[in-house]
Parts: sequence; C-alpha cells; structure tokens
Amino acid sequence: MTNRQTIKHLTQTAMVTALIIVLGFFPGIPVGFIPVPIVLQNMGIFLAAELLGRKYGTIAVGLFLGLVALGLPLLSGGRGGAAIFLGPTGGYLVAWLLAPMLIGTLIKITRAMTSGYWWLEVGIVWLAGILFVDVIGASWLAVQSHMTLTAALLSNGAFLPGDIIKGTLAVFIARRVRAIVDFGLPA
Ligand code: BTN
Repeated sequence: MTNRQTIKHLTQTAMVTALIIVLGFFPGIPVGFIPVPIVLQNMGIFLAAELLGRKYGTIAVGLFLGLVALGLPLLSGGRGGAAIFLGPTGGYLVAWLLAPMLIGTLIKITRAMTSGYWWLEVGIVWLAGILFVDVIGASWLAVQSHMTLTAALLSNGAFLPGDIIKGTLAVFIARRVRAIVDFGLPA
C-alpha cells in the first residue's frame, strides 16, 4: 500500500470515528428495567465495519473507545472515563471493538459485497453487530448487575426492534456511500 493510500484510509477512519462521536450527541433512552440505554451510537459501529472493513473499522472503533477511556465525554449522554468499561455497559463496549472484525471477516468469507446479495450483508450485521454484541453485553451485565444470564438476555429483547432498523439502515447507507467513495473494499 502506498503512503497516499494509507493517508486516505486513516483520514476515512478518523471521519468514521467522528461520525460515531456525533451519533453520541443523541441522548440514550432508558429502558427502565436494566441500566443500559437504547442508543444511536451503535449504528456508527455498524457503519465503521461496513465502510472501513476489518482493520480500519477496528481502528476507528478502537480510537473512539480509547478517547472514552481517557475520559472524554463521548458516549451517549456525555459519559466517559475508564470506569465505564467496568460498569453495566462495559460488555457492549468491548463487543463494539470486536464487531467490525467479526462483521468484516464474515463479509469476506461469504463474499457478501461482491455477490450483490444485500440481504447477506444485512444478515451478517444482524448476527455479528446485533446478536453478538447483545450476548457479550448481556453476559457482562448479568455478572455486573447480579442478574441471571437468562434475565439479562431476555431484557436485551428491548433493543432488538431498534437495532434491526439501525443495522438494516446502516447497510443501505454504506452501500450507497461505497458506490460514491472508494474505501478500498470490494465493490
Ligand atoms: C454506553 O453508552 O455506555 C454503551 C451503551 C450500549 C447500549 C447497547 S448497544 C446494543 C444495544 N442496543 C442499544 O440501543 N442499546 C444496547
């Protein structure tokens, strides 16, 4: 890869990190029965994976989480600080870091971007961006909040309708953006 391409990828990565930050300006919506809000910010994680792929998607999310860990108030509701990673939402944040790697790997294995089957891309985001994140998030929530795993998993059902809409929208937005901007991914 040339220097020029690397600079281009890093610029695009920084822009996606900025997008994740902007999505955090929308305040979280409390669900009441668990201390985990409905957020828009996870749509930025889906977009990072869909636009940047495994490597740069992980860097974009890692950069965002690194800034949060340093104490910048970038999570929905203006929260930040390393302690958040040990709080009730810590599992979701760790899963956010892993999601672009998983989504990108599944997209590569299935050749979802080159196949033209948009539903394959949507299915991958649902599986690795929603289900995977919810299972990891709920598992840590169960430990942290002294709930049963079943109760934690079931309570995550509250996120599904919104996440399915966000995940599907992210795929369609990313497909349109990729048609205009070269992210160095398969067409
Ligand atoms: C935080 O701001 O501390 C992280 C919030 C994590 C929210 C999770 S992500 C998956 C699920 N979908 C949502 O809308 N909320 C939860």
